Amino acid sequence: MCGIIGYAGEREAAPILLGGLRRLEYRGYDSAGLVVARDGKLCITKAAGYISNLSEAVHGGADLPGTVGLGHTRWATHGKPNETNAHPHISDGGKIAVVHNGTIENYTRLRDFLVSKGYEFFTQTDTEVAVNLIAYFYAESGDVLHAVASAARRMEGQYALGIICEDAPDTIIATKRDAPLFIAVGERENFIVSDVTAVLEHTRTIIRLRDYEIAVLTKDGVTLVTSELDEFTRETETVGWDVSSAEKGGFEHFMIKEITEQPDCVRAALSPRLRDGGIYLDGLGISDEYLRSVERIYITACGTASYVGLVAKYVVEKLARVPTEVVYASEFRYSDPIITDRTLVITLSQSGTTADTIAALREAKRRGAKVLSIVNVVGSVIAEESDWTLYTYAGPEICVASTKAYSTQLALSYVVALKLAQVRGTIEPERFSELLRVLATLPDAIAATLPLREQIQYLASRYASRDNMFFIGRNVDYALAVEGSHKLKEVSYIHSEAFAAGELKHGTIALIEDGTPVVTVAAYSPLLDKTLSNAAEVKSRGARVLAVTTESLREKVESNRDAVDDCIAIPDFEELFLPSLAIIPLQMFAYYCALERGTEIDKPRNLAKSVTVE
Ligand code: G6P
Repeated sequence: MCGIIGYAGEREAAPILLGGLRRLEYRGYDSAGLVVARDGKLCITKAAGYISNLSEAVHGGADLPGTVGLGHTRWATHGKPNETNAHPHISDGGKIAVVHNGTIENYTRLRDFLVSKGYEFFTQTDTEVAVNLIAYFYAESGDVLHAVASAARRMEGQYALGIICEDAPDTIIATKRDAPLFIAVGERENFIVSDVTAVLEHTRTIIRLRDYEIAVLTKDGVTLVTSELDEFTRETETVGWDVSSAEKGGFEHFMIKEITEQPDCVRAALSPRLRDGGIYLDGLGISDEYLRSVERIYITACGTASYVGLVAKYVVEKLARVPTEVVYASEFRYSDPIITDRTLVITLSQSGTTADTIAALREAKRRGAKVLSIVNVVGSVIAEESDWTLYTYAGPEICVASTKAYSTQLALSYVVALKLAQVRGTIEPERFSELLRVLATLPDAIAATLPLREQIQYLASRYASRDNMFFIGRNVDYALAVEGSHKLKEVSYIHSEAFAAGELKHGTIALIEDGTPVVTVAAYSPLLDKTLSNAAEVKSRGARVLAVTTESLREKVESNRDAVDDCIAIPDFEELFLPSLAIIPLQMFAYYCALERGTEIDKPRNLAKSVTVE
């Protein structure tokens, strides 16, 4: 995600801001920028690419003298990653500068309003809407604090904002909603930061800003006000972490940090798409007529993204009744795929740069298919070359083993399946509305699985010493078993394979020995009995069976001692979306097995985060 640092003090701001931005580099970014107030003017420098480019552009800060300023690392969400779209953004007229993390969901509407009031826009970002909205209210009231509060009331979505106004050059204003922002308090200097890592070398004293609150900082102090501008005070806290654990938000590894971020990431992926009781594919230009004409779907991707495809196939076929095939991207272009102008190809990719997925996309287009992609990195090759792109807005995924990319891709697959079903008339309107309502609660449901962590850590300690494991399941549970097994071997180096539960006895059962762990995904209730009888087949041959099921099935599963040894139960949820919950314990199980074995969890041997070769 993007990073924010702001400084108001007695020292030169620019070198401190550059140092803070370097501390934020680990979060991933594509461009960076600074604004410093000098002689009543706002001086801005931005650069695409590394902080070193920005630092060179301002000679390490020497070219931007001044003691109050803001810095930002951008990870593109709206608009390409380039210098123009980098932050800070300046209002039309140049009075106010803003750095922003998050996405302003109603930015199109706000921009239309501001255009009607004569504001001009020069970038593709939602942030430029925020800064001009503040400028608009400032022009009305002449009070920047009022202007920030008025603008904040009208912005939907997530934001952490740092604001500086030419007319109050010794002051930084900050506010937030659903995005982290902290005030850091020093000796005759104060900071704002989106991530405390950026200031730990200067101070460990912080104040947590809560949603809708506004902070006003000068070198002499910090004033906190509510959204109604009533002043209040809050105790400071002392940060105990060192820098390396602060980067991970206090977690031991990025993998577990990213696992726990999934509710927020799924919320960020879904919320722009679910609006006013319908599905909102803003700006995609995908016509209902086209969606009705689709006769066949291919889902193509690599690694974890391809295993999202396995779940998506079940959901699309169930809801929209379109035959859907999942093909590894590395196989797709060599498989002579049967493509007509009625074939929709869906590619899934976190990075948007995976060579095989790019090749599959190009082959699909060459053969006349339309391509819809679900991608995390904005402006990436896959995003740019697809006919339509849905962004997952998961933020940078740092652990090589993918978790939050999986969850956000899956959430958007539900959106695509529901949209197809709606326009093709394969779902009753009442059921459609009900599913949309439930889908909006998915982030909270995922959050409710996170407390399973402790139990899973305990169970992992009992399984992690084995060198072979198997994962089984039926239907979507099989698709989940494939990803659970993949995750385990990636990070723990335990050899693992996944099977459709009914297939085990056709060969693999020969490998079951005394104590061989078999993780049985048994969350899909229509096939529970069949899955349990497959689990009993392996248990009777010595396997130790760990079942993943739901709260309402727990009793039945746990009491079946012929089939199950240990049981993890996720909260009950709409069956169609249950895979989004069931994947969480499987990710945690992989993580804790790896932790137990002491492997390089975030950067497993031989693996790369982005595979740009065939
Ligand atoms: C690599 C990564 C995996 C990822 C796969 C596809 O193998 O290690 O975590 O699932 O590439 O990457 P993509 O960026 O296209 O999702």
